[in-house]
Amino acid sequence: MLNNRRNFIFRVSIVINIVVLLYAAMHLSSNSTPGVEWVPITVDGSERSAEFRYINREEIHNDTDTRPPESSVRNFEESTSQKTPSTMPTTNKTASSTASIPELEKKIISVLPELETSNSTALEIDDEDALNPATLAYLRTLLGCNDKDMLPQTIQRGEYWVLKNFVRADHGFIQCHESITYTTHAGFEFLDNVQPLVERWMAPVSLAIHAPGADMGPTVNSIRYLRDCLGNELIKQYVTFHVFFSHKNLPSSIPNPDIFLQTPYNCTAKPPYDVNANSTYMKAKSLLYPVNVARNIAREAAVTHFILPSDIELYPSPNLVPRFLNMIARNAKPLSTSTRPRVFPISIFEVGAKAQVPSTKNELQGMLANKTAIPFHKFVCPNCHNIPQGQQWMNAPETNQMDVFHVGKRRGKFVHWEPIFIGTHQDPYYDERLSWEGKKDKMTQGYILCVKDYDFMILNNAFLIHKPGIKHYVKNEKRDKIAGKQSLFIKSVIMPQLKTLFGTRNGCAL
Ligand SMILES: *[C@@H]1O[C@H](CO)[C@@H](O)[C@H](O)[C@H]1NC(C)=O
Ligand SMILES: *[C@@H]1O[C@H](CO)[C@@H](O)[C@H](O)[C@H]1NC(C)=O
Ligand SMILES: *[C@@H]1O[C@H](CO)[C@@H](O)[C@H](O)[C@H]1NC(C)=O
Ligand SMILES: *[C@@H]1O[C@H](CO)[C@@H](O)[C@H](O)[C@H]1NC(C)=O
Ligand SMILES: *[C@@H]1O[C@H](CO)[C@@H](O)[C@H](O)[C@H]1NC(C)=O
Repeated sequence: MLNNRRNFIFRVSIVINIVVLLYAAMHLSSNSTPGVEWVPITVDGSERSAEFRYINREEIHNDTDTRPPESSVRNFEESTSQKTPSTMPTTNKTASSTASIPELEKKIISVLPELETSNSTALEIDDEDALNPATLAYLRTLLGCNDKDMLPQTIQRGEYWVLKNFVRADHGFIQCHESITYTTHAGFEFLDNVQPLVERWMAPVSLAIHAPGADMGPTVNSIRYLRDCLGNELIKQYVTFHVFFSHKNLPSSIPNPDIFLQTPYNCTAKPPYDVNANSTYMKAKSLLYPVNVARNIAREAAVTHFILPSDIELYPSPNLVPRFLNMIARNAKPLSTSTRPRVFPISIFEVGAKAQVPSTKNELQGMLANKTAIPFHKFVCPNCHNIPQGQQWMNAPETNQMDVFHVGKRRGKFVHWEPIFIGTHQDPYYDERLSWEGKKDKMTQGYILCVKDYDFMILNNAFLIHKPGIKHYVKNEKRDKIAGKQSLFIKSVIMPQLKTLFGTRNGCAL
């Protein structure tokens, strides 16, 4: 009886949603301006509305595919024969985010049969660390996201050439609702972080590597070493590598992955990424690290709806992905009630160089108590990573499921907050004119989030731990000079542009 009633309400709400969405789609497609569009929130204020807000976004990059996508086709076929998802991309093109109304209708109709089978038992989650088929089916309808392919492409992006999906993970086709992608970036000398990262994340990683000039060789060798020499298949399984470099620092040759991946790497020598950081081509040429180009490349290539754009030295707490997606599927308050755009910040900590990286919040709390763990950048920039209710978070006991701990804003005491969060492709990108050396490279995104009135839904049990070793502030005159210049540039050039583009809001600052 109760089941039937819930079922009925569920279906009615779906039908209302569809009507709203069709209306929104018609409205959007009559609007010729490309870019993010805001449409009315669906009746239940669910995650799904977020996806449809950008249904009219145009693909920025055109197809300049230079390599045949043979192995990806093979991957796709293997996985589709097992899964037969309802909205598989059937062409080589990126699954369309420029869906026309008939396409949208098809999409909705294809989703309906799944609703028939997902009754109210769908949300009975008995294992928070796994995603059962009913939860996945429900997530698919809740998120209403578009699946994307992972074809290799050589793309131009400003002054950079990007070898997108240069070496792809073996996981094959992944539907957009079924996982979360950790998106990150590095020079090859940081690739020692990949293994501890993947062992804890156990889900797709999209990694953009800056490899100008002669850094290309060790970059390719590092990728091969990571895939072949670490004694397990996790990196092969989960990590997709993109490589990029400025046209001013083109490598003398570009190794072909279809060829070099056929030969197992000789693992007897030390890891190619194990070098003095001063010895890279990038350092020798005094190039700045284009951190935001790298972040955007990694983000854009991710095929899942949810992404965690992060820094490669930040290792996530285990089981974050299934626990987060189970939380989304439960769709409890405040997820179900807030109609504002949202991101999900994760608390960050540092541990001593010799310390074990904690796996649970319980363990972390023990380490905080005896000071073997401290809040991130406590000794570098104490206020940069202060999070709303940070102390309460540290005191609160671990619970048995993931929930929103507190909904904060990037205002007041937290006006310069640089959170790391799980978000979606719809969130603002990073300004590609800023370098890592210049600092404040994430602040422009923070400003836009504030102006758009984002809710910062801080997660309760999840955390990130920086690669062991507590950082202290070290004066670096060369970097301070670059930072001074960049700071001035942000203030005098970028900020006025952001105000024109996004407007202003009381309490928001860079
Ligand atoms: C996909 O691309 C390949 C090679 O680029 C081409 O031969 C094939 O016809 C394309 N398939 C579709 C469905 O467009
Ligand atoms: C729907 O409910 C029935 C009985 O209540 C159950 O047998 C069936 O497995 C459920 N289906 C799904 C997809 O959960
Ligand atoms: C691998 O490299 C080592 C030393 O660099 C060499 O002695 C060995 O013969 C190589 N193994 C193979 C299979 O090429
Ligand atoms: C790299 O170079 C800087 C300055 O030239 C120096 O201070 C630093 O110790 C060097 N780092 C290593 C690991 O050699
Ligand atoms: C600090 O606490 C952690 C977790 O309780 C424990 O594993 C570690 O041994 C402690 N370290 C010191 C130096 O007391």
